[in-house]
Amino acid sequence: MKGIFPIEKFQKVRTPFYYYDTTLLRATLHEIRKEVERRENFVVHYAVKANANPKILNIIREAGLGADCVSGGEIEAALRAGFPASKIVYAGVGKSDWEINLGLDNDIFCFNVESIAELEVINELASKKGVVANVCLRINPNVGAHTHANITTGLAENKFGIAMNDMFDAIDEALSMKNIRFKGLHFHIGSQILDMGDFKALCNRINELQAELERRHVRVDNINVGGGLGVSYDHPNHIPVPDFQSYFSTFARHLTLRPGQSLHFELGRSVVAQMGSLITKVLYVKQGATKQFAIVDAGMSDLIRPALYQAYHKIENLTGDGPLCPYDVVGPICESSDVFGKSVDLNEVHRGDIFAIRSAGAYGEIMACQYNCRPLPQGYITEDF
Ligand code: LLP
Repeated sequence: MKGIFPIEKFQKVRTPFYYYDTTLLRATLHEIRKEVERRENFVVHYAVKANANPKILNIIREAGLGADCVSGGEIEAALRAGFPASKIVYAGVGKSDWEINLGLDNDIFCFNVESIAELEVINELASKKGVVANVCLRINPNVGAHTHANITTGLAENKFGIAMNDMFDAIDEALSMKNIRFKGLHFHIGSQILDMGDFKALCNRINELQAELERRHVRVDNINVGGGLGVSYDHPNHIPVPDFQSYFSTFARHLTLRPGQSLHFELGRSVVAQMGSLITKVLYVKQGATKQFAIVDAGMSDLIRPALYQAYHKIENLTGDGPLCPYDVVGPICESSDVFGKSVDLNEVHRGDIFAIRSAGAYGEIMACQYNCRPLPQGYITEDF
């Protein structure tokens, strides 16, 4: 056992695989609940897109969180895991008819609608069924987030949401539709956000919009501020759970809620990132012309974040204890971008060593693919060993 890992047991399982530390997951959920229970009108939905492993979904559902879904498949996964439909929110710029029908048939908490065209389709499909759809409008708040360009979503140039200038027209449309019940507003500015100032800027923008809505006598039941709280990829051990206290208190302090309004959050990464590691075995150590490679059996097909976003994940040699040497840690896939880290200092590496690629619980297993006809990685939890 090195740190949190049952290494002897790992040696009997086919690599690569994801290992999820459920003790840490439960501790993280406990932190979230503590913050939410202090504030009666805060509601947290877990962003299923971060990790839809059924065992993980079950634990999150048991903790009382709702689900934030972005596809029919995610709605099905959430329902299978026992999330009540009354706690499911559903966003996405391109909802197809069967997905909207699935949401209507299950009477989900609300559709976060991203265009007037979509609003019209939902109204039409709801009318065919003789039901009324609960709708929040996703507004693009044009608030930047200090994060990677690929994962910022709340700028005017991004495809998400309804432009602020069109918001009042969209609300008028929604209010005029017979099979639409207008419930509120939805926002999401990006992901892996560590600067609370970005969330404060979102609060200020929402306050401005709410003041204008009030002038127009538009009633809003829910405000949904999306997700985005980041984690420390540099220190998966030192800061075991993200700073939920600062996060929730930023909203409590800066967002002015009206009486009876509830405030919804859609947290993904901050719930599951730190509990997960990609466990992989060293196949070969190779001395190149200028550097030394540790070639592992996991590839970018198992964890695409480094290749896609140049994301940093801490790598540890769980079985080595020799002197530290620099290695490029690479996978077996036929792409030069199949690299987990360059010049990573690791205890001297040998064939058969086991590495943990840390902070991989969010956007890891779920983004895996079968490129090179590789099998998808398995996901195991603490209780499986
Ligand atoms: N709500 C909406 C509308 C979203 O688009 C997202 C994430 C979330 C909530 C959850 O955000 P979180 O709390 O996890 O930051 N694959 C990328 C991240 C993409 C995030 C997409 N939207 C990555 O690996 O970094």
